[in-house]
Amino acid sequence: MDFQGQSILSTEQFDRDSLLDLMKEAEMMEEVFKQGGNDILKGKLMAAVFFEPSTRTRFSFETAMLRLGGMVVSNPDMMKNSSIKKNETLWDTGKVLSQMVDVIAMRHPNPGTVAKLAEGSDVPVLNAGDGSNEHPTQGLLDLYTIWKKFGRFDGLKVALVGDLKNSRVLHSDADLLKHFDVEFVLVSPEELALPPKFKDGISFRETENIHEVIGDLDVISCNRLQEERFENPADCQKYRGSFIITTELLKGAKSDLIILNPLPRMEELPTDVDDDPRAKYFEQVHNGVIIRMALLKKVLL
Ligand code: NCD
Repeated sequence: MDFQGQSILSTEQFDRDSLLDLMKEAEMMEEVFKQGGNDILKGKLMAAVFFEPSTRTRFSFETAMLRLGGMVVSNPDMMKNSSIKKNETLWDTGKVLSQMVDVIAMRHPNPGTVAKLAEGSDVPVLNAGDGSNEHPTQGLLDLYTIWKKFGRFDGLKVALVGDLKNSRVLHSDADLLKHFDVEFVLVSPEELALPPKFKDGISFRETENIHEVIGDLDVISCNRLQEERFENPADCQKYRGSFIITTELLKGAKSDLIILNPLPRMEELPTDVDDDPRAKYFEQVHNGVIIRMALLKKVLL
């Protein structure tokens, strides 16, 4: 699959070969990063337009662009201080931005909105999270983190743990790993189960109790309760504490398990887990820069 000039809006755009190819590209970018970067994107400009809070995703898109010699313009608070405030449409905003830049990274709290801006845009738009729907680049960096540890995806047992209904990250993990021979364990309260669309094509079992499966797992990908996605945020309180990855739980896990979390974390990941060598969530932040370097190269060159 050739991504040159293409928007990356959904994990659906990837297949087995393009994922493996991206992993190889990321490995090469790891070397580039070690040298401090290069200038293959010299003269290229990215706009980071974020309608929703972000720490890692925005900084890592920007870092990736700068490490490859590109340039960045950024608005971290589009909802408050862009012409969207004056009721400009997303289509117009996309059209306008694309007259100035070569690529756009965008995040928005509502599903489908990144695609709307991309319709107006004359340059590629990269989905940096559209509400509770998808977060393709986080999914890709999660895969890269798995790849770095195991050098493969086939044959792994992966638990997706937490608010599977609302976590766009866990949606994207499922939708990308479905191209491999992965056995999933979906761990969540019943009301927060993975939506049917993301169960399509994966082999899985569901449980509310991670203790049942902990000893079999190769990967735990967990994410906080997505409080802001609940119609009534108070409703999410009852689920607090129902899926905590404790050091006690981890005593029953394989020694080469890896624990992923896109961060920010809440109670699901106590800080004493940080000292466990199986915890990979800070390494994931670095991997996020690497995978976005790889993706920007594929889209822009
Ligand atoms: C995630 C997100 O924004 O969906 N964070 C991230 O991109 N690193 C996860 C979350 O907010 O829980």
